[in-house]
Amino acid sequence: MNLFVPKETKFKENRVAITPDVAKELVNKGFKLVMEKNAGQSSYFSDDMYVNAGATILENGSNGYESADVVLKVNIPEIDEIKLMKKGAILISFVFAATVPQVIEAASKQGISIFSMDAIPRISRAQKMDALSSQSNLAGYKTVILAADALGKIFPMLMTAAGTIKPAKVLIMGAGVAGLQAIATAKRLGAIVEVSDIRPETKEQVQSLGAYFIEVKGDESIQTAGGYVTGVSDDFLMKQQALLEKHVADADIVITTALIPGKKAPMLIPASMVEKMKMGSVIVDMAVEQGGNCALSELNKTVVKNGVTIIGESNLPSLLPMNASQLYAKNISTFLYHLADSQGFKWEMEEEITKGSLIVHNGSIVHASALPKI
Ligand code: NAI
Repeated sequence: MNLFVPKETKFKENRVAITPDVAKELVNKGFKLVMEKNAGQSSYFSDDMYVNAGATILENGSNGYESADVVLKVNIPEIDEIKLMKKGAILISFVFAATVPQVIEAASKQGISIFSMDAIPRISRAQKMDALSSQSNLAGYKTVILAADALGKIFPMLMTAAGTIKPAKVLIMGAGVAGLQAIATAKRLGAIVEVSDIRPETKEQVQSLGAYFIEVKGDESIQTAGGYVTGVSDDFLMKQQALLEKHVADADIVITTALIPGKKAPMLIPASMVEKMKMGSVIVDMAVEQGGNCALSELNKTVVKNGVTIIGESNLPSLLPMNASQLYAKNISTFLYHLADSQGFKWEMEEEITKGSLIVHNGSIVHASALPKI
């Protein structure tokens, strides 16, 4: 089976789908691996490293798409790239199918199949394939480092002959995978950490990391399913904002990670709340690509409003490309071994991981999230 790994073309993307270590493993298992020239360069993996692992380097990416049986990527290709793929070929990538209807339509016309990394069910036996978690975990770390760098203060308490420096206060909203890593990182750097989430089970997880949990009394509008918040009313969000206002005003850093899968991110910090923050404080809005948890954050920009620095970096894992590619390559290769061997795909259509992650099958759109909305 011919595997092709193109160089990622998305804005500010430094990751690569396959690292040299995983390349070697694939080749040993009998796959033929073709890498686009410089595919790993931004993750600091040279073409020579891939050649030593047994891969072939291809100068022109278009040729790779045309001859591949399977394309392995981080981000979904452009429509023009999909159009190069041969009928019956397979794409494995982050897809977020509901957000790219034109690409899904192009894939359907082209008669290819798509498996989406973000749609792999989050069940125990799929943990090694869970790229959402591996990337969020790294993003949670990096967000604290970015915030620390933008803050004109240190995190830990420091007693010196010239006076005592108080520890920084970090408020984290959303204690999912990214939020929990952000808590642990901020604690390790010596900050006082406060946390808010509206799933009750997060209280114990937050406290076990040594952070303070801010109780927000829930109401009947909060819907949860499978460990996710799936819906919440605007009324509730107003109540939540009122309760969190004094914590936000008191914080040196606010990190927001709150997401509702498939929907716009909940508004947690309106402009009026930013106005009450201290000059020099920092917000990192990790939900900026999903509409933002902060009203004043701007996609892929750092802005200063009322003396508050607001960071809207959308691709945090890409800022740690060596680790992010390393973990992603492990996720995607494990997924590939689950679906196929070097001779071909198994197509176990009723198997939970296959069924959950298959978006388009030989041109037919089979996943509910990708079906055209009526
Ligand atoms: P996410 O990225 O969709 O959401 C982040 C966090 O935002 C969640 O903790 C959510 O409760 C919180 N949130 C939503 N609305 C909020 C609001 N108004 N205020 C404050 N916080 C709000 O979630 P993520 O990090 O992708 O995963 C979270 C869940 O998935 C957890 O239950 C986790 O245990 C579960 N999970 C299970 C896995 C497995 O079983 N293999 C693997 C990874 C995660």
